[in-house]
Amino acid sequence: MKKKEENAVMESILSLAKRRGFIFQGSEIYGGLAGTWDYGPHGVALKNNIKNIWWKRFVLSRDDMYGMDAAILMNQNAWVASGHVGGFSDPLVECDKCKRRFRADHLEDKAKCPECGGKLGAERQFNMMFKTYVGAMEDDSSVSYLRPETAQGMFVNFKNILDTFHPKLPFGMAQIGKAFRNEISPRDFIFRTREFEQMEIEYFVDPKEWEGTFDHFVSQIHAFTDDIGLPKESVHEHEIAPGDLAHYSKRTIDFEFDYPMGRKELYGLAYRTDFDLKAHTRVSGVDLSYFDEEAKVRFVPHVIEPSFGVDRTVLAVLSSAYREDELGGEKRVYLALSPSVAPVKVAVFPLLKNKEALTSKARELYKVLRQEFGSVEYDEAGSIGKRYRRQDEIGTPFCVTVDFETIEKDGNPVTVRDRDTGAQEKIELKDLTSYLSQKLGR
Ligand code: GAP
Repeated sequence: MKKKEENAVMESILSLAKRRGFIFQGSEIYGGLAGTWDYGPHGVALKNNIKNIWWKRFVLSRDDMYGMDAAILMNQNAWVASGHVGGFSDPLVECDKCKRRFRADHLEDKAKCPECGGKLGAERQFNMMFKTYVGAMEDDSSVSYLRPETAQGMFVNFKNILDTFHPKLPFGMAQIGKAFRNEISPRDFIFRTREFEQMEIEYFVDPKEWEGTFDHFVSQIHAFTDDIGLPKESVHEHEIAPGDLAHYSKRTIDFEFDYPMGRKELYGLAYRTDFDLKAHTRVSGVDLSYFDEEAKVRFVPHVIEPSFGVDRTVLAVLSSAYREDELGGEKRVYLALSPSVAPVKVAVFPLLKNKEALTSKARELYKVLRQEFGSVEYDEAGSIGKRYRRQDEIGTPFCVTVDFETIEKDGNPVTVRDRDTGAQEKIELKDLTSYLSQKLGR
C-alpha cells in the first residue's frame, strides 16, 4: 500500500474506534498523554475476548501450564539479573535546535532533524524502563520499575511452582498483564505504546528437547491467530538472523502481520536457553535448578518463550476486519470480525419503538439471548437501517428483528440479518438459539 493510502486506512480505523467506543486517546480532555490509549466498552469486550481465547488455548485446555498473575512492581535486583537495568535501551538522538528526541534506528537520515531540519547530536543509549520509588524514602535502595515485560514475574516464581505443584518437565507458566516501556517514539495508534498488555508463556524444558517444543509453539501461535480470525495470508514468520538476536536468545522467530502501515512484529517466539534462571540464581542466591527423579540428575531447565502483545492483536484484528462497501445502494463501513472476538454477538430490535407489543416481545427475547450468548444488545433508537449500521460498525455478526409476524403468525418468526451479506432470513422463535449457536460457531 502507498503511504497516503496506509495513513487513510489507519485514520479510518482510528476514527471508527473512537466513534464506536472501542478506543479513546488517553487523558484526552487534557490534550492526551503520548503513547497511552483508553479502551471503551466495545474495546474492552474485544480485548477480553482475545485474552479469554488465549487463556483457554494455552492454560485451561492443557495439563502442563500454570497460570500466574505476578506483581507489576518487583525488587530492583530482578531487573539487574534480567539485564534490563544494564541493557534495556534504544538508541536516542536529540536535535540541537528544537530539542526534540528521536529513535535513531527509525530515522533515514541520522544527521538531520526530521521536524525542523536542525543538526542531530550524537547517538546515546536511553533506558526504556519507567523508574519509580517504593515507600516514603526516595533513595537508591527504594528504586523499582514498572515492569517492561511480564516474563520476569514468572521466572522469579519458578521455585514456588516447583515447591507447591511438583510438576515434571516439560511444563510452563503463563500470564496476562500490563507492561510499560518509555518508548522514545510511540506511534501507529496502539501498535507502539508506553503502556500495553502482554500474554506470555515461559515453558521449561530439558535442553535436549528445546527444538521440538519450539516447533510446537510455532504451530500453536498460528492456531491462536486462526482462533481469533486473523487471515492466514497476513501472518508471516520472520527468522531473526543470529547476529540480531537478543542477548538471551539462541533462536527467535518474529511473527509479523500485514498492518495498514506495513508488515510489522505481532508476536515473538524465543529460545531463551537457561539465561534467566541462571541469572536469577546468581543475583538472588536461590537455587533455581530442577531435579529429574527418573534420571537422578539436577540441571537448570531451558526456556521457550512465546510472547504476545494484546494491543497489537487488537490492531491486527481491527485492521484486517475493516471493510467499506455498498449495501442496498448505500455506502457502509463494517467490521467483519470473527464471532469469537466480536464485542457483541447478537443485537435485538423491535421493528417499531412505539408499539408496546413489539418492544415487550423484543425485550423478552433479548433477555433469553443474553442468557445464552452473554454479549447481546437491545436497540430501539432510530430507523432499522440506522440500527443495522451501528451494529455493522462494531462487527455484530447477527441482528434479530421482532416484527408483526413475530407476534401474530404461527411459529413466531423473527428476521435474522447477516452482517457481511445483509441477507435476511425468517427463523421460527423455537429454532433461533440453535440457529444462532451454529452460525456463531459455539
Ligand atoms: N518477554 C519478551 C518480550 O517482551 P518483546 O519482543 O520485547 O519480547 C513481546 O515484546 C511482544 O510485546 C511484542 O511482540 C509485541 O506484541 C508487544 N510489545 C512490545 N513492545 C510494545 C509496545 N511498545 N507497544 C505495544 N506492544 C508492544
